[in-house]
Amino acid sequence: MSKVIGRCVGETSLVDVSFISKEMPRVGEYVSLKYDAKNVLGMIESLVRGSVSINDQIYDPLTIEKIKAIEGDDHYVKGTVKILGDIDDDLRIPRTPAPPGTEIRVADSKILKKIFNVGKYGLKLGNLITQDEVAVEVDINKMVSRHLAVLAMTGAGKSNTVSVIVNGLLNVNGSVLIFDMHSEYVNTDFGKDMVKVMKPQINPLYLSFSEIKKLSNIPSNAYVQERYFLKAFKSARKSLIQGSPRGKNFIAVIQSKLEGWLKEAEDPESKSPYSSDKKSIADILNKLDHMQDKYGNILSLEAKDAIDNLEVGKANILDLGSVDEFASDVVVSHILRNVLRSRKEFLRSGDGLGFPIFLVLEEAHILAPQNRKTESKTWISRIAREGRKFSVGLCLVSQSPKSLDSDALSQANNMIILRLVEPTDQNHVQRASESLSDDLIAQLPSLNIGEAILLGLMTRIPTLVKIDEFMGKISGGDLNIVDEWSKSHENHVKTLNQQKKEYEDLGGDY
Ligand SMILES: Nc1ncnc2c1ncn2[C@@H]1O[C@H](COP(=O)(O)OP(=O)(O)O)[C@@H](O)[C@H]1O
Ligand SMILES: [Mg+2]
Repeated sequence: MSKVIGRCVGETSLVDVSFISKEMPRVGEYVSLKYDAKNVLGMIESLVRGSVSINDQIYDPLTIEKIKAIEGDDHYVKGTVKILGDIDDDLRIPRTPAPPGTEIRVADSKILKKIFNVGKYGLKLGNLITQDEVAVEVDINKMVSRHLAVLAMTGAGKSNTVSVIVNGLLNVNGSVLIFDMHSEYVNTDFGKDMVKVMKPQINPLYLSFSEIKKLSNIPSNAYVQERYFLKAFKSARKSLIQGSPRGKNFIAVIQSKLEGWLKEAEDPESKSPYSSDKKSIADILNKLDHMQDKYGNILSLEAKDAIDNLEVGKANILDLGSVDEFASDVVVSHILRNVLRSRKEFLRSGDGLGFPIFLVLEEAHILAPQNRKTESKTWISRIAREGRKFSVGLCLVSQSPKSLDSDALSQANNMIILRLVEPTDQNHVQRASESLSDDLIAQLPSLNIGEAILLGLMTRIPTLVKIDEFMGKISGGDLNIVDEWSKSHENHVKTLNQQKKEYEDLGGDY
């Protein structure tokens, strides 16, 4: 029998009980209560410590000192236990509350091991913080199909958590696509032949006119410009598809069509139908110059369709480290749209993306911001709402939950929350998740690196877990700045000395 840590006091209810103890248990610790032939599991949710004699009616510090001298540290601990369910009845909430006086024991780790063992469909994330002999697994099917949010301040362990998850999914032949905003996963070791790195490029031939029009920045009411652009776009596409697109630049081909028309328009002899639209055509040419500057590097006629690039059973990593936010938005939204479309297509006709996929979005608050419209946000929300039907899972990773679109966040039925200090972030997360109580929120600032609260359908009960450290991490951790400075200082001194020596060798007087 495990240790008794307290007894129920006062009025108890079906969902929580208060208890008094002489010892200090830990918030998040699992306990069991035996009554009415039931064995009920609970979690310690809040704790306070008090003294009967040193109460808040004493107004003289000297009196307190005297009482302390007599009493010593004879304090009581008072707390609440959240009832999680009957262990022998599939964790259903019991129908009768615990009688006052019921013993509260530390939960048996054998029972906990059973609860956190998901078996064939499980992924091990780590171990219980309070009982580290108990491994914690989550249900992969529920995690992927009902979406996940990994939230915490910088440095708390989000990327490590993602790596543990990706690694676990690869172990069950899972297919993952990571939108790697800072090129950190590119250097993570998920095992030989387990990674497929993709360049952030889209083939403009696969862009719809509305997509390319957005890149071109032509105002929505500029109908004449739009007409010419569409005409040039179609004609460029046609000639590229008929000819060989290798080595060509799509924007340049469109421009050359427009330039041809402009030249005709400027020729007084030709009586060109374009004469009256010279300004509009010149305007588009200007805009296309900007477009080439801004997006030229992500548009390549040699790029394969993003969907054809995805490999089954691998960590597909889209390396976005070298492109800016705007370009990332274009690439990410294009891929998200096509993943969803292609999965729908596959389930309808057998033609398309033939395997479920888990999409990991780092810096989700940049791609799907709360107060701004982006192209990616539209598709993130769509996948958050519809993805389940087509086995497309989302993992939103963010260090600034308050700037993350609350609509998308509330669709994440699973959460891993590591250390999170800012109250506005905490409130935003709490609004999105019904199962995050005030007492659990209160724990968030005191978590250490790698410690997390797990919530949602992927776990049978809310859990405080120490996430495993992923061993394949090659970069991404904190740099040692002092060492870096010292290294560059040494290099600088070396160069100076060398220059001095060369100068002296030349007979100079340094
Ligand atoms: N579960 C963990 N166990 C041990 N160390 C961890 C754990 N999680 C993170 N760390 C360490 O903390 C540092 C920051 O982690 P990281 O995952 O990059 O944080 P974030 O992505 O939230 O900024 C890393 O150097 C990593 O080694
Ligand atoms: Mg990170």
